[in-house]
Amino acid sequence: MNWIENLKKIVAEDIIFVDAKILQNYASDYTEDLVHFPDIVMKPNTVEEISVILKFCTEHKIPVTPRGAGTGLSGGSLPVNGGISLSMEKFNRILDIDEANFQATVESGVINETFQQAVKERGLFYPPDPASKGSCFLGGNIAHSSGGPKALKYGTTKDYVLNLQVVLPTGEILWTGSDTLKNSTGYNLTQLMIGSEGTLGVVTKIVFKLLPLPKHDVLMLAKFKRIDDACEAVPKIFINGMSPSALELMEKNAVTYVEKHSGLSLNSSSEENEIMAYLLIEVDGNDMDQLFTDCEGINEVLEANNVVEVQFADTTEQKEQLWKIRRSIGEMVKIHSIYKEEDAVVKRANLPALVSGTKQLGDAYGFESVCYGHAGDGNLHINILKGNMSDENWNGPHLEEAIRKIFRLCKSLGGTISGEHGIGLVQKKFMNEVLDPIHFKLMKGIKNTFDPSGILNPNKIWEEH
Ligand code: LAC
Ligand code: ZN
Repeated sequence: MNWIENLKKIVAEDIIFVDAKILQNYASDYTEDLVHFPDIVMKPNTVEEISVILKFCTEHKIPVTPRGAGTGLSGGSLPVNGGISLSMEKFNRILDIDEANFQATVESGVINETFQQAVKERGLFYPPDPASKGSCFLGGNIAHSSGGPKALKYGTTKDYVLNLQVVLPTGEILWTGSDTLKNSTGYNLTQLMIGSEGTLGVVTKIVFKLLPLPKHDVLMLAKFKRIDDACEAVPKIFINGMSPSALELMEKNAVTYVEKHSGLSLNSSSEENEIMAYLLIEVDGNDMDQLFTDCEGINEVLEANNVVEVQFADTTEQKEQLWKIRRSIGEMVKIHSIYKEEDAVVKRANLPALVSGTKQLGDAYGFESVCYGHAGDGNLHINILKGNMSDENWNGPHLEEAIRKIFRLCKSLGGTISGEHGIGLVQKKFMNEVLDPIHFKLMKGIKNTFDPSGILNPNKIWEEH
């Protein structure tokens, strides 16, 4: 293609990749089994290179889809219009950990867990911990304001970003905010970028705020015969004055598929066949006595809600094992079956209604659902399994109607259609369930201001009409 030859004249050729095998690696992410090939992959090394690339693409109307580690679940990094897959993998340096100010500056291709570990070694804490933390990039976390279990007590990515270096589609480079804990200086462009899914600019550097590392944590696994009992316990834990650092739900079939496909095991006894749901509950802080008091308070609520057994993880290994089981649910369900993943979120006290409504819709539309996730946030991951559903029903209006009904239920329960996975490609057709025409008008106006040629991650977040 002519534009590729022209591009080679203005950037180093060795950052351009056209080999079919390489393109294939950038044609999919973790979203279902979707495949969209880019024309080329680019792996720039510097912000200046990105600026040159974006300016060129704006002038020549070439689509550019920014890409982190490709762990997204809504298709945000799929280059659906072809063009360039712009990989941020070379932006992998932690530039500064500023202990005096509890801040750090990183490039956007740093892996979440690498960053967490680096600050932990200095006694500092970066809480957002998506299930994919071992591989996902911090820039991708910015794209969706990713959460994870600790979001319950500590908030999501958006709560830790002070400032962003961004390259606009015009090639202009800016810092969106200031490296301060407070900033009341005009529109909050930093927060506008967070969750914009790579449609407004390419994030190259991030200034994060950090916390002191909590000294202790306690993890418990509560087992229930009825998923409703587990869900109903969740809001009551808070009403009774406890603030766990994580409160996760795992439906029985989630654990079954993890055990079947990962080699990990909860080591349940055979009497536990009747267990239908688990809550994984963590408390953290600096005072061990206080944590035990919190655990007692939580235990009282669990017992009042018919818990069968509460197990405490005694060792670091046991804790890690439980978290590994929880974190691998999404991947193991994907190995088990063709599936779709929804990221429903409702007001916390409405979680039981969301779960029971989802199960009723599963019965009515003929699908098995695996419900798990961030119960304490009211953020339920609903994996819909294809099972025996015909291809026609799976790919057509039948399943779409069922998903629409799940989202209508979310809305009626004070919620919305994504808590942390974003809209990307696969959820955009459902956006009209929760947003009005004025929302789309405002968002399109913002998009047009940042990206007048519409080159950056086109065909995402809303349907083009
Ligand atoms: C999780 C991912 C799917 O919580 O968000 O496991
Ligand atoms: Zn999650």
